[in-house]
Amino acid sequence: MTELCEGLTHLDWNERWKAAAARRWQRTEKASRYWDKRAPSFGERNLDSAYAKAFLEALKPEPEWTILDVGCGTGALALPMAGSVRRITAVDFSEGMLRELDRCALNHGITNIQTKLGAWEDDWETLGLGVHDVAIASRSLVVDDLETALRKLDASARHRVLITSIVGDGPRDRRAMEAVGRNFPKGPDYIYVVNLLHQMGIYANVTFIDTEREWAFASRDEARDFYNTYLGNLDSPEEVRLEAYLDRELVHRGGRWTLRHPDVIRWALISWKKPVGEIQSEASRAL
Ligand SMILES: C[S@@+](CC[C@H](N)C(=O)[O-])C[C@H]1O[C@@H](n2cnc3c(N)ncnc32)[C@H](O)[C@@H]1O
Repeated sequence: MTELCEGLTHLDWNERWKAAAARRWQRTEKASRYWDKRAPSFGERNLDSAYAKAFLEALKPEPEWTILDVGCGTGALALPMAGSVRRITAVDFSEGMLRELDRCALNHGITNIQTKLGAWEDDWETLGLGVHDVAIASRSLVVDDLETALRKLDASARHRVLITSIVGDGPRDRRAMEAVGRNFPKGPDYIYVVNLLHQMGIYANVTFIDTEREWAFASRDEARDFYNTYLGNLDSPEEVRLEAYLDRELVHRGGRWTLRHPDVIRWALISWKKPVGEIQSEASRAL
């Protein structure tokens, strides 16, 4: 082994993730209330998402599969996938997100998605999640203890696991944060996940999904409300700077208000297959 490789194997990627996650995620984002508030805007983006299309192309769902979708949100993946698989267990700790998902499933006559209120941090045995053919976690790795989360997800899958994780800035709107005078909080990105998996003996495939930020608003007031929630607890000088930012950035096109500078958001799609015959031992090692 080269000196460089030895150096890397001695890094504790879970501890590094914890330190970086503490810098990146505010207490608000770790609370289900924060996600409850964002649920309506997530719901609107469910249908016709380029991101979901790319994810499902990589997943290649099969009709007999059962899927565990952790941090499912309003069903950006569960809803478009429902017609192509047997059953989906969609888990999230935000009641607001699950309510949107249930509402949308009902509207579309979808009956094979079971929503469950639960968190990464919960005891999944008590939640009764069980083992599924495939476990996915899309844009939902908002956790302190990455290793425990990855082990739980791995143990819940019979055949495959797929995760998407942040690359660089991720979906955070750096422009808006800096415009109101806040520091952009650097945080962990996908490379921590890949390195930790490697240390766990899981050699994952990595590809990337690029999407354009799709934020669009019916009115300027709606944009202001959105950023107020998104940025959280704006003081008066920040509110003034937000107004100036909206003056500069918002443009009225085709009856909607959109951002003048659309960003490309890159996600790392990290996936692995379970070794045949090692499923039970993997699961028991993990729990
Ligand atoms: C960015 S959204 C992604 C939703 C969906 N998977 C998608 O790709 O559109 C993140 C989701 O993770 C959920 N989440 C965040 N922290 C969580 C936790 N500790 N346990 C369970 N869900 C969590 C949020 O409620 C939210 O629905």
